Amino acid sequence: MNYRVPRTRKEIFETLIKGLQRLEYRGYDSAGVAIDGNNHEVKERHIQLVKKKGKVKALDEELYKQDSMDLKVEFETHFGIAHTRWATHGVPSAVNSHPQRSDKGNEFVVIHNGIITNYKDLRKFLESKGYEFESETDTEAIAKLIKYVFDNREIEDITFSTLVERVIQQLEGAFALVFKSIHYPGEAVATRRGSPLLIGVRSKYKLSTEQIPILYRTCNIENVKNICKTRMKRLDSSTCLHAVGNKAVEFFFASDASAIIEHTNRVIFLEDDDIAAVADGKLSIHRVKRSASDDPSRAIQTLQMELQQIMKGNFSAFMQKEIFEQPESVFNTMRGRVNFETNTVLLGGLKDHLKEIRRCRRLIVIGCGTSYHAAVATRQVLEELTELPVMVELASDFLDRNTPVFRDDVCFFISQSGETADTLLALRYCKDRRALTVGVTNTVGSSISRETDCGVHINAGPEIGVASTKAYTSQFISLVMFGLMMSEDRISLQDRRREIIRGLRALPELIKEVLALEEKIHDLALELYTQRSLLVMGRGYNYATCLEGALKIKEITYMHSEGILAGELKHGPLALIDKQMPVIMVIMKDPCFAKCQNALQQVTARQGRPIILCCKDDTESSKFAYKTIELPHTVDCLQGILSVIPLQLLSFHLAVLRGYDVDFPRNLAKSVTVE
Ligand code: G6P
Repeated sequence: MNYRVPRTRKEIFETLIKGLQRLEYRGYDSAGVAIDGNNHEVKERHIQLVKKKGKVKALDEELYKQDSMDLKVEFETHFGIAHTRWATHGVPSAVNSHPQRSDKGNEFVVIHNGIITNYKDLRKFLESKGYEFESETDTEAIAKLIKYVFDNREIEDITFSTLVERVIQQLEGAFALVFKSIHYPGEAVATRRGSPLLIGVRSKYKLSTEQIPILYRTCNIENVKNICKTRMKRLDSSTCLHAVGNKAVEFFFASDASAIIEHTNRVIFLEDDDIAAVADGKLSIHRVKRSASDDPSRAIQTLQMELQQIMKGNFSAFMQKEIFEQPESVFNTMRGRVNFETNTVLLGGLKDHLKEIRRCRRLIVIGCGTSYHAAVATRQVLEELTELPVMVELASDFLDRNTPVFRDDVCFFISQSGETADTLLALRYCKDRRALTVGVTNTVGSSISRETDCGVHINAGPEIGVASTKAYTSQFISLVMFGLMMSEDRISLQDRRREIIRGLRALPELIKEVLALEEKIHDLALELYTQRSLLVMGRGYNYATCLEGALKIKEITYMHSEGILAGELKHGPLALIDKQMPVIMVIMKDPCFAKCQNALQQVTARQGRPIILCCKDDTESSKFAYKTIELPHTVDCLQGILSVIPLQLLSFHLAVLRGYDVDFPRNLAKSVTVE
């Protein structure tokens, strides 16, 4: 939004559209904008909303088609909001895209990144009060809720930021929100919890401050009912930011610096539950509760990054970018679901079926390729936490066998795309037999997510590289979260649950440590890339790592690669071992450690030269290794998330060195929609 810089509406559009285009690389399926309507100047306040399924370009074209859009109009204050949506609740469509609105008159509009986990309860409540919903999104509940709070306000001149403050007290989950309203023309309010949000500041003139002090309520209360009786500290020039002399200043709200960096590199990062408001050309930030860090102000920081760097990063392929996104993607999978304070997990899409699942005869987890490996990786922890028999099945084989399925079975369908034909047919097969069906997908609106009774969205963000990487680690975590939710009231499992939840919390940081090994892995690839074959061996929790690592290698390097269960070594694979055959062994500090040492002895006794993936403090394995890659240690059942990453990186570097197209390997497709 901008203040006292006369600008035409066309310029505002261009800024918004450009911002969306800068975020295009993240992937999305629809886009929308809301801007000040034509009659703003004559005080007939109006918000114009344009939304479109598909690309930002389509939205841009649509904007120019709108008859009522006078592009030359100049306002003293413009405030526009724009959003690209990647479906989480509801299929991609114009009505489901953002901004979402409170009513047909667009009194309040909002854009949202994140997930509202209690949106069904909110929707039910608001519907009972007569609010009519038009979309299938969780976000629409926020737009309606703010209108409800406004309609039921007890003071006539309630501020926009107070409304938002009340709204977010009712929200569960994760969000970054920006609101616009016809009742507050020229004002903007933004807030966040769990999703990133920053404010860019641009002014040719000196700014009034470099530190924005946080405003708190004068009487610090917890009770929502009392909030209306308290007052914010009076806003004066020392509690807000503006250009000195009230000259032109522009504020940009964005979830990512890449959307705004061409306008300014001066930004303020908001913290959870900060409420930032711009009114009358001034930015102020307030909170109801003191922040964990208890920092009494937010500083304006200067970003030292080039636009080019943000857009492209240092990545040469989507696969590499997706491997490196894993600290964020695994966090996004857990966001708003795992409560690290109370040690609880809430998967909104399953909670209504939990009783039924707990009563079932067995769990059957079905998938293809990498998705099947995610099932193999989590089978043991699911057996432990659910105390149920767990079958893992390749969809094609499951169908070939006409596997018996009963109405008291619960069948999980794991699929990144949600469209894989074999998995979809297995789903229909299980439905015909009246089993409860659960989808675990990365694509809302996909066939599997639509046709299952309930499900979990893994929220890994769009995956473009054909060889799946970040979807695997997010599927893994989704299944672990399911196990944790199932075991919430098992007293005997509480210590174990706490250990796993602690492990989940630490994962993003540990993944970063593993990613820092890239150079070492690149050197290893330099040594291996001319080989014809590569064996990957392990057992227990890390058997799936071997299967998945070998799959990555064959998919994109076209080398022969096999994932071998170390327990089967003596029953065949040992015959392959000699001093030429490269073999990677995954040996982690877990209950299979001693047995893995036996396998290691058997390999070295045949002059094998094992490259060992092991834990940092493992001096025993490294004695026998030709080379080691040392990984940070985590809880045994989560170790597979860390141990797979070096193999993702290795396959990537092998493929690059062999001169192949990493993202689009020959003969393979991202989504296999034929049997
Ligand atoms: C294809 C892809 C793999 C993927 C598998 C299952 O083979 O190339 O990367 O693991 O399908 O796909 P899904 O979308 O069901 O997870």
